[in-house]
Amino acid sequence: MTEPQASGTTHDSLRAVQWQGDRLHLLDQRRLPLEEAWIDCREAGEVAKAIHDLVVRGAPAIGIAAAWGVVLAAQRDDDLERAMATLRAARPTAVNLMWALDRMRACIHAGADAATLTREAQAIQDEDLAANRAMGALGAALIQPDSGVLTHCNTGSLATSGFGTALGVIRAGFASGGIARVYADETRPWLQGARLTVWELQRDKIPVTLIADSAASHLMSSGKVQWVIVGADRIAANGDTANKIGTYQLAIAARHHGVKFMVVAPSTTVDLATPSGEAIDIELRDPTELLGYAGRRTVAEGVQAWNPVFDVTPHELIDVLVTERGVITQPDGAALRAVFGPGAH
Ligand code: MRU
Repeated sequence: MTEPQASGTTHDSLRAVQWQGDRLHLLDQRRLPLEEAWIDCREAGEVAKAIHDLVVRGAPAIGIAAAWGVVLAAQRDDDLERAMATLRAARPTAVNLMWALDRMRACIHAGADAATLTREAQAIQDEDLAANRAMGALGAALIQPDSGVLTHCNTGSLATSGFGTALGVIRAGFASGGIARVYADETRPWLQGARLTVWELQRDKIPVTLIADSAASHLMSSGKVQWVIVGADRIAANGDTANKIGTYQLAIAARHHGVKFMVVAPSTTVDLATPSGEAIDIELRDPTELLGYAGRRTVAEGVQAWNPVFDVTPHELIDVLVTERGVITQPDGAALRAVFGPGAH
């Protein structure tokens, strides 16, 4: 699972999505941190299932995995449109999935064979890593020395091609000495924070303190954190941002306490075709995720549960959006159009 620190970047040793020529090797994130198990996908349908079942998760990572799913379909001479439709339906909210499939489709329409599609999927994966490193530097430069930060969900190497988005800023900020304290919240119900983020930071030697989701406002009132730093699954044209459920309430609490709120996401997460947060399709998952833990029921029989797994933070609550194209303060429609709209570079 480890790879040498070839780029010289420290605190970044994990690669959870690995192409192996005729299969996609995925670290099974359902089983972390107690077990480090891997699964191999040999066809697009298996990749779609791995995305739906959260073997691989995080907006950029599911886009990358889907691109490799298209390569598998091409290698097997499967029906590519059908494979892409199956992959696209795996999860609805993260636009990176649709973006990656659209890019692969454009390549197919240009006459690409399996070898060309392999190069395209590798480019998608490599570009994501480069974007993460760029965002890490840009975001870390905004943080004053001796700052504390709170993050939500998992936005690290597990959720991307490597390094991470919000967690990339935290990696870079820790390495440069700006970030002195990192807090991660549990991220109920799937516990991406408790199971994945603190494991990932611990193995890369970044000290982190776990809190219950419900401790976040109390933490902010204590003065221990100056920034909330999160990732995104889809950023609408007006800057409204969908991210893991619970992000919205963190943004409200941050504004109340004078804590700055930073969203870190590659340009592949920006969706100018979606006008505002209201139009974002929010994934609802099986309510049983709320009714028990580790396969054991903890809630009385017959209880109903509602399990939306993303929410939308209105752009007015976002102080800074960091993408690989630069830092946007107070992101709104005009600011996003200037960076991502037609004619922008
Ligand atoms: O349901 P998940 O675990 O896929 O949700 C992940 C998130 O919400 C992340 O914050 C987002 O995808 C950004 S990952 C760099």
